[in-house]
Amino acid sequence: MSGMSQTPDRAAVLAALDRIIDPRTGKGLATAGLVQGLVVAPDRAGFMMEVAPGDVATYAPVRDAAEAALRRLPGVQKAQVVLTADGGTDRTPPPTPPAEPAPAPGTVRVRRGSRLSAEAVAQTTPPAARPRGEGSQNPAHVRRVIAVSSAKGGVGKSTVAVSLACAFAHLGYATGILDADIYGPSIPRMLGSDADPQTNADRKLVPIEAHGLKAMSIGFIVDEGAPMIWRGPMASSAVNQLINDVAWGTADQPLDLLIIDMPPGTGDIQLTLAQRLALSGAVIVSTPQEIALIDVRRGAAMFEKTATPILGVIENMAYFPHPVTGEPIEIFGRGGARTTAEAIGAPFLGEAPIDIALRQSCDDGAPLVAVDPGHPTSQRFLAMAAAIAESLESGDSRPAPRLIVE
Ligand SMILES: Nc1ncnc2c1ncn2[C@@H]1O[C@H](COP(=O)(O)OP(=O)(O)O)[C@@H](O)[C@H]1O
Ligand SMILES: [Mg+2]
Repeated sequence: MSGMSQTPDRAAVLAALDRIIDPRTGKGLATAGLVQGLVVAPDRAGFMMEVAPGDVATYAPVRDAAEAALRRLPGVQKAQVVLTADGGTDRTPPPTPPAEPAPAPGTVRVRRGSRLSAEAVAQTTPPAARPRGEGSQNPAHVRRVIAVSSAKGGVGKSTVAVSLACAFAHLGYATGILDADIYGPSIPRMLGSDADPQTNADRKLVPIEAHGLKAMSIGFIVDEGAPMIWRGPMASSAVNQLINDVAWGTADQPLDLLIIDMPPGTGDIQLTLAQRLALSGAVIVSTPQEIALIDVRRGAAMFEKTATPILGVIENMAYFPHPVTGEPIEIFGRGGARTTAEAIGAPFLGEAPIDIALRQSCDDGAPLVAVDPGHPTSQRFLAMAAAIAESLESGDSRPAPRLIVE
């Protein structure tokens, strides 16, 4: 525990929040059940407030008041209240909104009820190229979104996501990385940043810039070590907010690529994410073990369900280079990911060895590809990124997206 930071008193936090009145019920916020996923950590406090989609405007000042109240408490330097009106899978559907004129063909409306919907700009792709269901869309001013996924944790998904993102940046693409792994955010540590995201005039979160990337993570908002015990729907709300309420790019300076570090697994939250985002494709990370390969097949099936093209499979921790000769020592066997890639009809993008420099660079917050692009392991990631870029360029016959402002 650092002697400098002070952990706010949880009871005091709840009491302060209960002094703010919920305009709908007339009760205090805590009593009204509007304080969800409360995180009280050294120097900071934050929570999520899920309201009905039609109530967002009503609750925006409540959110501001709650943040101000938190900030006044001893031990709170940073306060963050996330107002979300996403609605989760376990909620009853909101009342049908009044009929709206149908959008012009090839356009998609910004999700209603988003805190920022009035200002938001939706990027659109023609339905023919986007068979992923009506709600799917790219975040504003983002050309392509690529998911980096794994069916289980610990296979190096985040390491690969950061390495690929740095590789794309090195290749000249304006690149962002979104840490959608809200239960285990690791991007802030890997990028060596604990900056606080600021909010711009449109009340969007401004991504952190590090190592040539734009980055956003729940870890920038709450402490990485803080337990985040969120219900599934809240978790997907948080992720949706990270997707939609972040100023990834502008009309003048769009993001070419947004890399998503997906939560591990193939459950509801992953499926929702894959459906919500107009993913250009998914990269699957695996280790060589057979058990991991079974998971790859499961992951592939999930992306098939959402009609997301699989850009390829990467075998991470493929082998251990002999410390003296550099000869590969195949700890878990080798080549299984290539076989699996063939079996699911996806390209095999390459392998990354077990590399102490790679691990160290992640721990140090100085991504190997960014700080030493000439390193043999960096070269591997650069080659994989180039292969992905090529398949995206060649496979893309979509007309340029049109932008509409709602
Ligand atoms: N190719 C690799 N060589 C050495 N260490 C690695 C490699 N890939 C990942 N690691 C290390 O393994 C651990 C888990 O990796 P991480 O990317 O956090 O996995 P995930 O996101 O799948 O949970 C981290 O300590 C990371 O530095
Ligand atoms: Mg991770």
